[in-house]
Amino acid sequence: MAKLKQEEKIDLVRIASDVRRWAYVPYSNYKVGAAVLTDSGRIYDGVNIENAAFPVTVCAERTAIFKAVSDGERNFQAIAVVTRDGGMPCGSCRQVMAEFGPDMLVIVADERGKIIAEKKLSDLLPGMFTSKSLKE
Ligand code: THU
Repeated sequence: MAKLKQEEKIDLVRIASDVRRWAYVPYSNYKVGAAVLTDSGRIYDGVNIENAAFPVTVCAERTAIFKAVSDGERNFQAIAVVTRDGGMPCGSCRQVMAEFGPDMLVIVADERGKIIAEKKLSDLLPGMFTSKSLKE
């Protein structure tokens, strides 16, 4: 797992916090912002985007990761997730993180920027299913 400096963590949390303003949350009013740091040092942000057909909603973490992947990025060092109360990433987002950054650091913060949790993905998703599982 990449070792991030404290300033890099604070920077990632700040970017995730700033982008929360664009969360599209007419149904839950629960704004989530995410910022993912790639191995190449770039940062992509994203928000949750809800839909009147509720299950179609996309979480902030996946928006950020998909933006990066569609820009050619494949490997991630860390992701910061900011909500009003420091809520943890859902299971679907953990699985998407596993695809591109099985060793990534997951930083969870509240709206005041207070870091609530800082965990390796492997601790949040033990026994994860990855491409290795498909190798014969
Ligand atoms: N949400 C996220 O953006 N990320 C998560 O990991 C958990 C949930 C969003 C989805 C929905 O827009 C709102 O939070 C309430 O579930």
